[in-house]
Amino acid sequence: MTRSRMQLLAAVIGISAAMSVFAAGDATKGKALYAVCAACHGANGEGNTLLNAPVTGGQGAWYVIRQLSAFRAGVRGTDPKDTYGMQMRPMAITLADDQAVEDIAAYVTSLNPTVPAEDPNKIAGDVEAGKAAFVTCAACHGERGQGNSVLRSPKLANQYYWYIVRQLQAFKSGLRGSHPKDDFGMQMGAMMVLLTSDQQINDVAKYITTLK
Ligand code: HEC
Ligand code: HEC
Repeated sequence: MTRSRMQLLAAVIGISAAMSVFAAGDATKGKALYAVCAACHGANGEGNTLLNAPVTGGQGAWYVIRQLSAFRAGVRGTDPKDTYGMQMRPMAITLADDQAVEDIAAYVTSLNPTVPAEDPNKIAGDVEAGKAAFVTCAACHGERGQGNSVLRSPKLANQYYWYIVRQLQAFKSGLRGSHPKDDFGMQMGAMMVLLTSDQQINDVAKYITTLK
């Protein structure tokens, strides 16, 4: 890694660590609210490839809260070209208030889904090259892609290949992470200097799908 990249990384890690906030919700109330979400994200948060809905079960509550709040505030899912974010945004808006967001996040984080296996023919990329690229990613997302609440970096393990590729492409093109109030999305967007080709994106996504 070049010196400037190391400095960039150190700077954004510093910002994330300074902004840690924790919230508590009521998972029992969240379970009732989750009925509408299950239609796309599955009863156990296992996602749904046909509906383009990612795995959410077992994701950090703080991250679920941040994403739902971002959708609600129009920080994510408002670019007309962001087809899938535009589908999710109205769902987040149906939640009554911040308490509902926290309750649903408490329920979602408690789920431990078995994610259906993907068609290997739809997974491109070189897993060894992806493993090498992931060393930098691991600084924030953890060596096993388990996420890091202090660095505000979500869990990546146990997620679909197609979703990871789609998000990385969205960060790269600016569909995600370019809203002026999307501080954390911008951090991730800046990391896309590390993955300049589709091949590199596919490689690292393939490696991530091996993480459990
Ligand atoms: C109509 C289908 C649909 C419903 C219903 C739905 N979602 Fe989603 N959700 C999506 C799609 C599609 C995405 C992916 C958006 C993208 O690609 O940026 C998504 C993304 C998300 C994300 C972001 C995941 C991440 O890793 O960043 C969260 C969190 C989420 N949904 C939670 C919920 C909750 C909670 C509910 C219920 C209130 C819900 N969703 C209802 C389709 C749906
Ligand atoms: C400086 C810390 C940092 C580094 C290094 C980093 N990320 Fe991230 N990443 C984040 C943050 C913060 C988010 C959450 C953005 C948001 O809230 O929208 C994120 C989000 C993501 C997401 C979206 C997850 C989801 O559920 O929607 C993917 C995929 C991802 N990163 C992959 C990578 C890969 C691959 C690398 C290495 C090339 C990497 N990240 C390097 C901080 C980092």
